[in-house]
Amino acid sequence: MIRHIAVIGAGTMGHALALVHAIGGLEVRLYDNDRQALERASGLIESALATLAEAGEIEAGDAPAIEGRIVPAGELAEAVTEADLVVEAVVEDAEVKREVYGEIHRHAPEGALLASNTSYLDVFPLMRAGRPCLITHWYVPPYIIDLVDVVPGPGCGDEHLDSVLGLVRGLGKHPVVFRRFVPGYVANRLQAAITQELLSLLDEGVVDVQAIDDSIRHGLAARMALMGHMKKSDHAGLALVRKALESGAYVPPPRMLKSRTLDELVESGRTGVMAGAGFYDYAGRKPAELVRERDRKLLALKREIARIGEVG
Ligand SMILES: NC(=O)c1ccc[n+]([C@@H]2O[C@H](COP(=O)([O-])OP(=O)(O)OC[C@H]3O[C@@H](n4cnc5c(N)ncnc54)[C@H](O)[C@@H]3O)[C@@H](O)[C@H]2O)c1
Repeated sequence: MIRHIAVIGAGTMGHALALVHAIGGLEVRLYDNDRQALERASGLIESALATLAEAGEIEAGDAPAIEGRIVPAGELAEAVTEADLVVEAVVEDAEVKREVYGEIHRHAPEGALLASNTSYLDVFPLMRAGRPCLITHWYVPPYIIDLVDVVPGPGCGDEHLDSVLGLVRGLGKHPVVFRRFVPGYVANRLQAAITQELLSLLDEGVVDVQAIDDSIRHGLAARMALMGHMKKSDHAGLALVRKALESGAYVPPPRMLKSRTLDELVESGRTGVMAGAGFYDYAGRKPAELVRERDRKLLALKREIARIGEVG
């Protein structure tokens, strides 16, 4: 039974992973080797709780108790000492992760599970045997987005996998299990392919940014939200899908390591919402306000999709 967890790394993902587990009633210890990151985390947790309360996802009166279940730790050893599960969410750097795993192995109780939130690194060779290891890969923001990619690794038997799947489902999340590690899982591989395709259309001047997002929002995304892609293919008819494949009409862009459009934006300081501009201009609106609006609307959409239910 997983009751105590330690989250190592309190950045974009770590603070939110601490929160999602605390909302589920678990006792959480949160550690980061950067004091400021740990301090920032508590502000981010408070603001996320306010959004969730405002959207009716949690009772406003429960927020202090949820926050109280997240205890910052001054040392990694202190964070993991009682953990049943250690969630690693440090920077995506193999050497940093290897070192952190070493420390976790030294200080976590025997039998405690070790789960990494890595997006693209094959962490299993870095984890070393000795305790059950796996990947649980969450999406931003994990207290709203339900998908969790799960990959069993060294020493992870069926009972360990079941226990983690039970935990994730108990948090109201939707785990998908992979038979082996593949960088980016399904969703991030698709996002990477979409990014390459769209940057190539932009670089070639075929369409503008608004046309791209209109195509996705008004075309692709609405059907995908209800059917995914494979079921949507069943609705299109697989003979048609085969014909399109065999025609060779779609030629993916050559592998891109650079994009003119992206370089220009980044070099001019238009790095996205946090900078006030990216592909779009955010007209002086504060990043926190934009994030709150995004989260509020995502929660409303999620509720509506759940109410409508799946097709077929
Ligand atoms: N940001 C995302 O959208 C996202 C989504 C899913 C998965 N991930 C994965 O989650 C992990 C964390 O990503 P992030 O976006 O939260 O990164 P981040 O840079 O926001 O946070 C990483 C944190 O790790 C801390 N850290 C670095 N070395 C450490 C050490 N030795 N001990 C303790 N803490 C240490 C840093 O101080 C920082 O606060 C990565 O593996 C990433 O691939 C990220």
